[in-house]
Amino acid sequence: MYLRSLQLHHYRNYESLNLEFPDRLTFLIGENGSGKTNILEAISVLTTGKSFRGAPDQELVQQGFPGFHIQCSYEWNNMLHSLEMGVQVQDRLQRRIKKDGKVLPSRASLIGNLVAVVFSPDDLSIVQGGPTERRRFLDALLSHRDSAYLDALLKYNRAMRQRNATLKAIRQNKARLTDLDVWDRTLAELGSSITGQRQRFLKEYEPILNQSIAQISGGRDRIRVSLFPGEALQENYRKALAERRMRDVATGSTSFGPHRDRLLFLCQDGSDRDVQFRFSQGQKRSLVLALRVGQFYYLKQYLGRSPILLIDDVIRELDYHRRDYFVDLLHKCGQAFFTTPDLDGLEEAVQSTGARIVQVQELPRKENHAGPH
Ligand SMILES: Nc1ncnc2c1ncn2[C@@H]1O[C@H](COP(=O)(O)OP(=O)(O)OP(=O)(O)O)[C@@H](O)[C@H]1O
Ligand SMILES: [Mg+2]
Repeated sequence: MYLRSLQLHHYRNYESLNLEFPDRLTFLIGENGSGKTNILEAISVLTTGKSFRGAPDQELVQQGFPGFHIQCSYEWNNMLHSLEMGVQVQDRLQRRIKKDGKVLPSRASLIGNLVAVVFSPDDLSIVQGGPTERRRFLDALLSHRDSAYLDALLKYNRAMRQRNATLKAIRQNKARLTDLDVWDRTLAELGSSITGQRQRFLKEYEPILNQSIAQISGGRDRIRVSLFPGEALQENYRKALAERRMRDVATGSTSFGPHRDRLLFLCQDGSDRDVQFRFSQGQKRSLVLALRVGQFYYLKQYLGRSPILLIDDVIRELDYHRRDYFVDLLHKCGQAFFTTPDLDGLEEAVQSTGARIVQVQELPRKENHAGPH
């Protein structure tokens, strides 16, 4: 799978931009604030409908304009496809998303077309941060794999909000305990299925992840991945909800389910401690890269096509040995896009791989004659 071209119109700091890409590596070079990450972000929006930086659509519109339009063409299976998204934020937010010129019903329906793996400096929070960041990593990966998982997750969240509203109503004597039955049944069905999908995925992902860790860090570290409590049996799940009813009524929130699952990365050095408390800073950085490289290999295997790689500013944090190794690894992976302020220490990698260099400062920022779409 190859990204062939990208057009931005009133997106972030770009008034109008048209880029074409080679099969392999592209380095986006430029000083801080020049607009490198904005380009990767626009590509990621076309893969999932959302910014990987978590920015709402309003932020993506160029200051002073009513909306943006972004479009790309990509090649898969010898066919050229196009994806586009136009957003208007005046009065009310309006989105128009198209594949090959045909309107798609939602942002989620972009998922599974152009598939990307994003490497971002914020990824360190998957290892260092709390359970929420780790769940987000897991859910994003599984949603990228198939949108049915995302659908189940959205349904689960809606049902949980209903259950929480009922819990609060019971506390105020406006509802009865038995009013929870219907929500407990729905949550047990959806929740155990979500957790089951997570468990099955982790079983397949763990060996792929360990292979990536071995490649990046030279072979010493091994980890075990585990989900806690990770209840995938509907019957046990329903019992757990029933046991917690009184406590949940008191707090007005649901205390059991996939929204509370904890993803654990445990050291395989005999300690079984979470890497968060055991690994050195360098080991953590290697693990973060391995999580993403593992995501690439997993998606490649599962989807039968190579995702593109969007690598935002993470190479400079690596020591020379890891940097060379990483660039070499990615060169073998397929098409990759890197951002970095300069090429210091990367000259060899760039030369040996025939990468394309895009000097971001030199890109046109002003309106050209292509006109609005
Ligand atoms: N909605 C917007 N309208 C206009 N300009 C914007 C908008 N959003 C962000 N920018 C500008 O984009 C620039 C940031 O771009 P970006 O994050 O891509 O920089 P970068 O090249 O990745 O920098 P760094 O090397 O620091 O990561 C900032 O100067 C910011 O002012
Ligand atoms: Mg940046």
